[in-house]
Amino acid sequence: MKLSEFKSSYIEDIKQLFTKVFSDSEGQSEGELIGNLSNEIMTSTDTQDLYGFVAIENKKIIGSIFFTRLTFKNGINAFLLSPVAIHTSHQGKGIGQKLISFGIDHLKKNEVSIVFTYGDPSFYSKVGFNQITEKTAKAPFKLSQPEGWLAQSLVGDEIKPIAGKSSCVVAFNNPEIW
Ligand SMILES: CC(C)(COP(=O)(O)OP(=O)(O)OC[C@H]1O[C@@H](n2cnc3c(N)ncnc32)[C@H](O)[C@@H]1OP(=O)(O)O)[C@@H](O)C(=O)NCCC(=O)NCCS
Repeated sequence: MKLSEFKSSYIEDIKQLFTKVFSDSEGQSEGELIGNLSNEIMTSTDTQDLYGFVAIENKKIIGSIFFTRLTFKNGINAFLLSPVAIHTSHQGKGIGQKLISFGIDHLKKNEVSIVFTYGDPSFYSKVGFNQITEKTAKAPFKLSQPEGWLAQSLVGDEIKPIAGKSSCVVAFNNPEIW
């Protein structure tokens, strides 16, 4: 298994991966929603606002992850981890955690200060995320599950509060996914 950076030649395979994995885990309509979201991320996001990575085995993409910019008024270099998927038949073997850590190491080298995500705290706490509230940092849209709002500092342990609203890239400008 090899981890590497996203390339535009992977777009169709990555869209299919997200559609399949989320269809398997949460049903076809969620699969299509996340497949389309991944496509929108890859095709509409400026390169300076996007980091993407893949896990490849036997020349096939078996995992993928994206980080897109979250913008705050104070100019902090912040990204949102979402979505991430590991092919259903390769789950539970540590690949998801390796892919997330690989991406976060890359962001650290690129002087990103903080990474947010929105998901299951019991999984993301394994890769360094902590639950936060919107007193610490506002999400771009109303959160349907505020307990899933998570962050990790890449510049020391402490997550310092960030004042004001945040905004996401165009692909996430949809209240239904929050
Ligand atoms: C979530 C996901 C990316 C994790 O990748 P993975 O390679 O299967 O996970 P790892 O093998 O690295 O880690 C496994 C650990 O995470 C836990 N875990 C895996 N999937 C989980 C999930 N959906 N929710 C909570 N915990 C989960 C397992 O219990 C396991 O814990 P353990 O080591 O203490 O037994 C992958 O299972 C996946 O693609 N799931 C479907 C899509 C999804 O839910 N994506 C995340 C939301 S964007």
